[in-house]
Amino acid sequence: MFPMLPRWLLVPAAIGVILVNAAVFAAFWPPPAPPPNASRAQRAYFAYCARCHGVEGQGTWRVTLLLIRPGDLSDTRRMQGLSDQYLFDFIKNGGASFGKPGMPAFGFYLSDPEIQDLVRFLRALPANQ
Ligand code: HEC
Repeated sequence: MFPMLPRWLLVPAAIGVILVNAAVFAAFWPPPAPPPNASRAQRAYFAYCARCHGVEGQGTWRVTLLLIRPGDLSDTRRMQGLSDQYLFDFIKNGGASFGKPGMPAFGFYLSDPEIQDLVRFLRALPANQ
């Protein structure tokens, strides 16, 4: 497989792979729990978005460790510049199609009505604090 890799490097390389996996696992697990009276959109936000964007939309230190910069979704001025259609497409198809590859696509996990719910939820984020 790796003809150029000296044998003595195999063990450190394997340990490195394990450490990186452990770090990613630790950074993303467990997802924060939503409040007991959470709406459907809020539950979806906690399940799919909060691990990167933080409970209040401002991003979490965990993803900063992995050099992911998710921006601030509770910044009203910034969010006002983004249309509902853009937010919908961005969440459904991921950031890659908009030149922002850090953001994964959720079209496989969430139905269109669920994504529309989420867009409304994002609009209300600053008010939720
Ligand atoms: C794996 C981490 C991760 C997850 C999970 C995640 N995002 Fe993101 N998101 C990002 C990153 C990174 C960016 C910033 C991309 C950039 O600017 O390059 C971003 C950006 C955004 C933006 C701003 C788009 C813009 O143009 O400024 C919105 C809105 C957004 N995410 C919504 C969501 C929603 C809703 C969910 C849950 C369904 C979610 N994200 C889940 C990482 C994530």
